Amino acid sequence: MSFCIAIDGPAAAGKGTISKAVAKHYNFAHLDTGLLYRATGAKTFEGLTPIDAAEALTAADLERDDLRTGDAGQAASRVAAIPEVRAALVDFQQAFARREGGAVLDGRDIGTVICPDAEVKLYVTASDEVRASRRHQELIGKGEDVTFEQVLEDLRERDERDAARATAPLKPADDATVIDTSDMTIDEAVAQVLALIDARRK
Ligand code: DC
Repeated sequence: MSFCIAIDGPAAAGKGTISKAVAKHYNFAHLDTGLLYRATGAKTFEGLTPIDAAEALTAADLERDDLRTGDAGQAASRVAAIPEVRAALVDFQQAFARREGGAVLDGRDIGTVICPDAEVKLYVTASDEVRASRRHQELIGKGEDVTFEQVLEDLRERDERDAARATAPLKPADDATVIDTSDMTIDEAVAQVLALIDARRK
């Protein structure tokens, strides 16, 4: 049986951590769809056009160790605004969403475009400052030399581009439950999400 949990939201809202915890709890497969766009963006650094990069994407591309950098995030957001790039990545995501045994997908357009009939749709968000602070800690931890202000500006620029694009913009699905994690610890956010999913699975 398939069961799709769609988790959308802006950059660094906690989607990834929540999605991993949810997938582990229910023993579902997890797909971080941002990685598809990050890998596509990273391939353009080597001279491929965004559309060629998306069409030629392989599993090995998702294993690159430069996908979590600020540059890869910006490149991802830019290629993600190109309709043909998005189109090249749809089939893979939709097949993943409906695989046997259940799936958690996190991204920007899972509840609106990839899996509009998802059994559970969440939109996870947090204030700009809280998101920037979390991402700043993460990048510093990886040895990146960035300031809080640079991270905040980067997030805002990316969110604006992701929300303003014509194709599959960042926005909550009409039937999504919005969860603001600004004043929650990650454990509290995960507990709230699991309670909501449990109620939906009954
Ligand atoms: O979730 P992330 O920060 O890794 O995503 C990187 C970029 O990829 C994000 O700024 C927009 C794009 N993206 C998208 O357009 N649609 C998705 N489903 C996931 C990511």
